[in-house]
Amino acid sequence: MKKEVAPFTFVAETLLLLSRPGALLVSLGKNRRPNVMAIGWGMPGIIWRKPIFAVLVRPSRYTYSLLEDISQFTVNVPYPQMAAIVAHCGSVSGREHNKIEETRLTLEPARTVAVPIIRECGLHYECQIVGFSDVLPDKLTAEIKTSCYPQGDYHRCYYGEILRVSADENFLERLKQTNE
Ligand SMILES: Cc1cc2nc3c(=O)[nH]c(=O)nc-3n(C[C@H](O)[C@H](O)[C@H](O)COP(=O)(O)O)c2cc1C
Repeated sequence: MKKEVAPFTFVAETLLLLSRPGALLVSLGKNRRPNVMAIGWGMPGIIWRKPIFAVLVRPSRYTYSLLEDISQFTVNVPYPQMAAIVAHCGSVSGREHNKIEETRLTLEPARTVAVPIIRECGLHYECQIVGFSDVLPDKLTAEIKTSCYPQGDYHRCYYGEILRVSADENFLERLKQTNE
């Protein structure tokens, strides 16, 4: 069972899991077919007096075109044992693959956005994009430019207002079990 929680209840857990194995971002194009992509860069925080989840998406991703179509996304935080699923969603593109079918993930409706959430994940952020900014090459250190952008493809940072957060009722207990 999922229950609604305050936006920043599980920020520490979100950041830990974002760093490994990564989280799952779901988006929806005008064709209404949901796509899932792995993300490792992003953060929940406060901007413009609003709870915001910022995600960084490179223009080459299929997800980028979907976010440009429909300004909503969900961030789904997986349990560590879902690492192989995250890796798959981060290695093939929704242009050629139906990753939801391939990974047998189950989608369920979100409450506040048209983009679904992923039932198997423990924690879900429902977000409405309220702004974006592009990473500018000439504002980066040489080290970051070389290590993160050898091919260019500079991220667009999407700022999603967090409209609702829900979590498995036993989210922390299940996380603890996986760490034992
Ligand atoms: C763990 C992990 C984290 C990732 N994080 C990001 C990210 O934050 N931003 C990004 O643009 N790509 C990221 N990627 C790469 C995309 O997930 C990958 O290119 C994916 O195939 C894009 O899917 P799409 O074309 O269906 O949108 C990550 C990949 C992995 C495995």
